[in-house]
Amino acid sequence: MVLCGPYSRGASRQRRPFFNLTVAQAVGTIVDEWANSEALSTVDIVPAKTCLIYGAPGTGKTRLAYWIARKLDMPILLVKLDGLVSSFLGTTARNIGNLFTFANRYRCVLLLDEFDAIEKVRDDPQEVGEIKRVVNALLQNLDVRQNIGFTIGITNHSKLLDPAVWRRFEIQLEIPKPDFEVRKAIAEYFCHQ
Ligand SMILES: Nc1ncnc2c1ncn2[C@@H]1O[C@H](COP(=O)(O)OP(=O)(O)OP(=O)(O)O)[C@@H](O)[C@H]1O
Ligand SMILES: [Mg+2]
Repeated sequence: MVLCGPYSRGASRQRRPFFNLTVAQAVGTIVDEWANSEALSTVDIVPAKTCLIYGAPGTGKTRLAYWIARKLDMPILLVKLDGLVSSFLGTTARNIGNLFTFANRYRCVLLLDEFDAIEKVRDDPQEVGEIKRVVNALLQNLDVRQNIGFTIGITNHSKLLDPAVWRRFEIQLEIPKPDFEVRKAIAEYFCHQ
């Protein structure tokens, strides 16, 4: 688990990633909603608090999540969910609970990276209802967190996710493989570094 400020220096992942217009517009909407949350609250609209980022490996999902956190100007709590999975009965659900209890103390962006790792519990030959406990823990904790900060789930395998968990995310943002223009921009950027 890593906690860092939105402007940590020297981290290349803090720089603006290159994406197509659809992704850029979706990110712009999230940021604009948060920037205008007070005005929106006068007409009973609350900004989105949860976002699931999914797509093929290496397409810049983690980097985009860092960028969103930076634009929201909140500290980032980065958690790789595979680190929470335990072979001991009940421990994974308890680890999830402890994580959210800690995260909910801060107005921060909670980045749940490798989100699909939770589904690994299903493959455990000893599986005796543990997956239900884990999914329930996730659902309850995501609900409680709704009013505190912003939560981003990141996964390569969106199909593995339990539909109820999937539905908890107000925004589902698919990151496509970069098209020609985006590839050109990435190549130019790295050539000039
Ligand atoms: N669209 C992009 N713009 C700029 N850099 C990118 C982009 N996509 C990938 N990269 C670079 O490629 C590397 C991998 O990106 P990142 O770790 O964010 O991908 P990922 O989708 O999270 O991968 P994984 O699924 O393996 O976790 C990073 O160094 C990142 O800076
Ligand atoms: Mg990643």
